[in-house]
Amino acid sequence: MTGTAPLTPVLTAHWDEPDSFTLAGYERTGGYQGLRKALAMSPDDVIATVKASVLRGRGGAGFPTGVKWSFIPQGDGKPHYLTVNADESEPGTCKDVPLMMATPHTLLEGAIITCYAIRAGHAFIYVRGEALQAVRRLQLAVAQAYEAGYLGKNILGSGFDLDVVVHAGAGAYICGEETALLTSLEGYRGLPRNRPPFPAVEGLYACPTVINNVESISSVPSIMTGGADWFAGMGTDKSKGYGIFSLSGHVSKPGQYEAPLGITLRELLDLAGGVRGGRRLKFWTPGGSSTPLLTDAHLDVPLDFESIGAAGSMLGTRALQIFDETTCVLRAALRWTEFYQHESCGKCTPCREGSYWLVRTLDRLEHGKGTEADLETVLDVGDNIIGRAFCALGDAVPVPISSAIKYFRDEIVQHQKEGGCPFDPAASTAWAGRK
Ligand SMILES: Cc1cc2nc3c(=O)[nH]c(=O)nc-3n(C[C@H](O)[C@H](O)[C@H](O)COP(=O)(O)O)c2cc1C
Repeated sequence: MTGTAPLTPVLTAHWDEPDSFTLAGYERTGGYQGLRKALAMSPDDVIATVKASVLRGRGGAGFPTGVKWSFIPQGDGKPHYLTVNADESEPGTCKDVPLMMATPHTLLEGAIITCYAIRAGHAFIYVRGEALQAVRRLQLAVAQAYEAGYLGKNILGSGFDLDVVVHAGAGAYICGEETALLTSLEGYRGLPRNRPPFPAVEGLYACPTVINNVESISSVPSIMTGGADWFAGMGTDKSKGYGIFSLSGHVSKPGQYEAPLGITLRELLDLAGGVRGGRRLKFWTPGGSSTPLLTDAHLDVPLDFESIGAAGSMLGTRALQIFDETTCVLRAALRWTEFYQHESCGKCTPCREGSYWLVRTLDRLEHGKGTEADLETVLDVGDNIIGRAFCALGDAVPVPISSAIKYFRDEIVQHQKEGGCPFDPAASTAWAGRK
């Protein structure tokens, strides 16, 4: 892709309309046509269409959605479930909540189509506890959908029955991890489970379960109406379709930019008025704090799963947090590590203890009280968390600091040479250490 790539508003197309969240507003703009089309097809054909579109999960890992659906065993006599992951807690990620606020029926329509395809009679939408407004919007949408015959018994005369429950979590990052989400939904403390068995075999209440991100499910109605080829016609070779890119931080016009996968940060920054105050871009996250930092050397890397992977990071949730030259990278890494320490569920030792000790060492380094040997300790602690933690939360803990050391080692060492943070010396003088 060259030049300024066009935006492709599909999910975001009607966000500015005052009644976009109502059933009438949604139907006026073509809502529930995808469902009508899907119900006229066989469930297997719906799965085949989503497979052919090459839609990949928008929750971070990019697993092909249609393939995930096809893992649900058929004719097993067990109930099947869909669980929509609306926990959205990854730092910088802010696409699912706005989507549920603006067009909750898009998510509902996608959920109904998905349940029809995987032969599920119940769907749960697990919403982050703090997003109370989104919970209310969804509850209203669910009530309207029941009334209009899109939910309940014999949906649109098809013989297909579905009930949808909107569930508010209590605001824990770990509950976005799919197995912790299921445990929480069952009424227990949200702790991750061992795999195998995978949720497609033993998920919610030990029954076959599909777990998909809000944006993944919300993309399904447009695939039904537009067709698999239309969707796969956007994006890059292996990363198809459109996605919502969330720009935040030191950018002139932060917000949601919906574009084909493969757009670059340079193109997005052009659309977003550039870095604030005409300053220089220093570092950025391609997909939230769990994805390694990149720098201004990566402005032209296509934002697709493969290219960002080849550049040493991950596409994640396309939460593009922008930091300009006035930012201390060590302080930013410390803040993110504090987040992980706070959100570590405590089930496994590497994540629980590693995040605790990393915070303390980084805090010392940030205030110029550390040594160069501390840098090696930090990297060593990180190496001992990755691959040894119970779930991917642990793998994310060392990501901000290890990528910060990779690109900005000299700046971190400078803290120790100057006996304080070069960006904020006063804070270092006032430093009292932490317990
Ligand atoms: C600590 C942690 C938090 C996560 N939070 C979310 C989240 O809030 N929303 C989400 O969709 N996926 C989240 N994920 C990823 C899910 O485990 C899972 O991969 C995703 O919901 C699958 O949906 P998809 O295939 O549609 O992307 C999280 C993973 C981890 C390890």
